[in-house]
Amino acid sequence: MNYSIAIDGPAGAGKSTVARLVAEKLNYIYVDTGAMYRAIAVYFSQNSIDPDDVQAAGEAVAGIDITISYRDGIQQVILNGENITALLRTEETGRMASKISRHAPVRTKLVDLQRSLAARNNVVMDGRDIGTTVLPDAFVKIYLTASVTARAKRRFDELAAKGQACDFEEIKADIEQRDYQDMHREISPLSQAQDAVFVDTSDMNISQATEAVMEIVNQKRSGRA
Ligand code: DC
Repeated sequence: MNYSIAIDGPAGAGKSTVARLVAEKLNYIYVDTGAMYRAIAVYFSQNSIDPDDVQAAGEAVAGIDITISYRDGIQQVILNGENITALLRTEETGRMASKISRHAPVRTKLVDLQRSLAARNNVVMDGRDIGTTVLPDAFVKIYLTASVTARAKRRFDELAAKGQACDFEEIKADIEQRDYQDMHREISPLSQAQDAVFVDTSDMNISQATEAVMEIVNQKRSGRA
């Protein structure tokens, strides 16, 4: 039997870094499901497909081949034979991913891929609907979040460190809009699974957040929770 740890939460809560570190500690693979939605977003942008056109989304998804592989333990996303991992982490792609993730054919395709990875491996999987929809029987479920202000500050600091010009209020508004879209879509909106443990990282650094998650995992493993 394979073990799954589901980590859900809004954009900028620290999910991907924490999930990657927890996976490293447990020797599980880290599955970044946001990267899969981002890959489809790149396809939409490259092919000038309207993200609001449901029919076009269905047709596009039917022609997309998406696979996941690992290089030095880091997830790679292969779209129609091309490794597009390096294109995924821009703000624009994140916004587009949030839009196209509303469509049923997109979600069906990616949920199948995510479940097949979890069926073959021990995984730490992060996203928006992992505990509620993708892996409802996950061994541990975490809902990792932080205040909008804390998340915007992290994003601001990240961009500033890269030397990119950015405006705090703009970043905050962007995060609020993404939260709204991800929490209010019709299919599998972001929400805390009933049996997920709530972790607020507003006042934690990455290593404290990772420790908090490891503590929950270890409690579960020792039968204490
Ligand atoms: O986690 P991220 O920022 O890379 O995700 C980008 C977008 O993809 C997010 O705003 C909504 C969508 N997404 C989703 O709908 N379901 C997931 N499991 C993961 C991401």
